[in-house]
Amino acid sequence: MEDGGWEAEGVGSKEAGLVHITVMRRKMVLGNWKMNLTSSESKAVIQEFLSRWEFNENVRVGFAPSYLSVETVKTALGENSIWTGGQDCLWAEKGAFTGCVSVPMLADAGAEFCLVGHSERRGRFGKLETPESTIAYFAESDETANLKIKALTCHGISAILCVGETLAEREDGHTDSTIAAQIQGALATIDQESAALVTIAYEPVWAIGTGKVCDAKEANRVCGVIRKVVESLLGEESADAMRILYGGSVKASNAQELFSQDSIDGGLVGGASLDPIEFADIVATAGAL
Ligand code: PGA
Repeated sequence: MEDGGWEAEGVGSKEAGLVHITVMRRKMVLGNWKMNLTSSESKAVIQEFLSRWEFNENVRVGFAPSYLSVETVKTALGENSIWTGGQDCLWAEKGAFTGCVSVPMLADAGAEFCLVGHSERRGRFGKLETPESTIAYFAESDETANLKIKALTCHGISAILCVGETLAEREDGHTDSTIAAQIQGALATIDQESAALVTIAYEPVWAIGTGKVCDAKEANRVCGVIRKVVESLLGEESADAMRILYGGSVKASNAQELFSQDSIDGGLVGGASLDPIEFADIVATAGAL
């Protein structure tokens, strides 16, 4: 994969015979375009973004357009070191799965990452405009997220695992246990090598597309809980190296406060990533930290 080893670096120091490794996690800002932008619109957004973007090695940038626009976006990005990704995939290599897209198809289109377990794929919407009777259509579970992570990492593609609580779960005091269960299910039997290709995005369902951003201190606390859960599954080294993003109504106006929290390594940005000027601003904010 392009610039492998770029994402996290160990900085060693020796004290009283003990070697301490401090992992430097670079920031990451990914745009999730969801079901927006045709291929020609996607190209125009990328061109406008590039006219405002300057490479900064402190931040990894990526776009997840619709499947139909992955190749267009990849071409429009050219040689710039910016990732293109899928919003979902199926774990099977190929076969009778009408309507699905496989990991080899994403890899062939040049994707470097793919979202997994987004709340909208789990049928958990912050702002429900979808009839309850159709929710089964969006049937992602922790088990399917796990299968997708295994398929993606096996092909060297980064998996961005999305986790988050609904408003009801938060109000019932179940935020931490909901997130822990989602991570335990999705990362079950994942080894450390595969985990090096996993990023977790904390996306409180009630903050997605609603304009209600999670308080930065609380988002930071939950991202800290996530790292502890990862540590209990994979050990301290993997947990230290894993990037944990925040997503849910990230905008240029709140990016600085969110991304400067200790446990937040960047953002997964929905609505604001459709505006190339605002998204370039969010990316620049992350790069300046
Ligand atoms: P939002 O979406 O920024 O529009 O709230 C974030 C996401 O769903 O990834």
